[in-house]
Amino acid sequence: MKLAVIGTGYVGLVSGVCFASKGNEVVCVDMDQNKIDKLNRLQSPIYEPGIEQLMEENVREGRLSFTSDLQEAVRRSELIILAVGTPSLPNGEANLQFIERAAADIGEAMDGYKIIVTKSTVPVGTNEKIRQVIASRTSFSFEIASVPEFLREGTAIRDTLKPDRVVIGLDNPGLEGVLTALHRPFTENIFVTDIRSAEMIKYASNAFLATKISFINEIANICEKVGADVTEVAKGMGSDQRIGSAFLRAGIGYGGSCFPKDTKALIQIAGNVDYEFKLLKSVVEVNTGQRYNVIAKLKESLETLKGARIGIWGVSFKPDTDDIRDAPALEIVETLIREGAVVKLYDPIALDNFRQQFDHPGLHWCSSAEEAAGGCDAVCLLTDWHEFKEINLHKLAAMMRQPVLIDGRNVYGREQIEGTGLEYISVGRPHMGAYSEYPRKIAEVL
Ligand code: UDX
Repeated sequence: MKLAVIGTGYVGLVSGVCFASKGNEVVCVDMDQNKIDKLNRLQSPIYEPGIEQLMEENVREGRLSFTSDLQEAVRRSELIILAVGTPSLPNGEANLQFIERAAADIGEAMDGYKIIVTKSTVPVGTNEKIRQVIASRTSFSFEIASVPEFLREGTAIRDTLKPDRVVIGLDNPGLEGVLTALHRPFTENIFVTDIRSAEMIKYASNAFLATKISFINEIANICEKVGADVTEVAKGMGSDQRIGSAFLRAGIGYGGSCFPKDTKALIQIAGNVDYEFKLLKSVVEVNTGQRYNVIAKLKESLETLKGARIGIWGVSFKPDTDDIRDAPALEIVETLIREGAVVKLYDPIALDNFRQQFDHPGLHWCSSAEEAAGGCDAVCLLTDWHEFKEINLHKLAAMMRQPVLIDGRNVYGREQIEGTGLEYISVGRPHMGAYSEYPRKIAEVL
């Protein structure tokens, strides 16, 4: 099919590239000319393993192109995919200004029948609004459908090429054939439903996954007090198929561009119809608290943060991405600076993004994990990048002023810590190391 994809963020660009690789003729549109210039040089504006290679292959085969000319793209396409951002407004509600603007532009550009598919995450009822906006701008006939996207950053291409399921929301059964044919090369597991239910499936899925994370994090907090090990608990729970083992990794909580935004938006969606989503409100609250537990643990171990040197390993919200949107590291580092600590930061790829968001004279930017740890009173591992798993922990203990390791992602096993001399504090697991041997007060060391 001939497709236009509006928006070249994670969802738009990855979808565009993957549809092209299944033989469709795809034009990706963005109003940001700089992004389009970059894409035309075959450079991806997002960090996603494997994307540039796929872009290159599809452009070479003549199936993929990039433009800022929305009108031209709409005219040469049979099906238009809306994949613009829906960021949070200050009250948590989804900001639909980009969606509405794109819908208006599509309406004005239309020169014949088109199918418009929304992949952006939008509140229930938004596709109806999109229909109205387009209808007010054109007299040509068109259809709308909701096909929410479930890809994860870092594994976006794999998730799109081999999704667990595709959800197609439509109100006109006549669309089912064309949309299932478009998605069948990716999976046989296609669930067709009405538009409102499809819109809700996306929010409900993200809210449920966020709930699993906050649930296991609360279990972890209790484990710390009763002497149980949350990783064992999660394994024991997860092998029950009704529960499932995914998204039961305890840690410092979820971040990123989706869970924080979508949980808050669903609370608002419910609030707008006079329903208080109490469970989801708690999920959000627990998630925020989990970040501050890192600070509490540091204070417990060092007694004061004033003058302490703290190494931070990882600032992206998860590994294999340079995305720092709503990353726990932001709040943790800001708090450390406010409390008077000196902070040494290392991340394999996300430091530039972090620096654009938060800079301070008390921050030191390091080019390796070792450099960030050298001379520190504590190291906090905030992102489970693979390279941290390979670090020589004996050497780490030797290069620190106080060998305290706060592992916010439960990366290391007991056998790796034993004999290293580290005071090891993870999430929901027994602490390790005889911290009474170490000077507990920064003031004594200075
Ligand atoms: C998520 C959804 O998984 C995806 O379906 C949706 O389309 C977009 O939002 P993403 O934000 O890319 O994807 O990352 P994901 O891998 O789901 O992780 C989200 C956050 O949860 C990360 O901060 C991660 O560290 C955290 N997490 C995940 C946990 O703390 N514990 C877990 O067990 C799993």
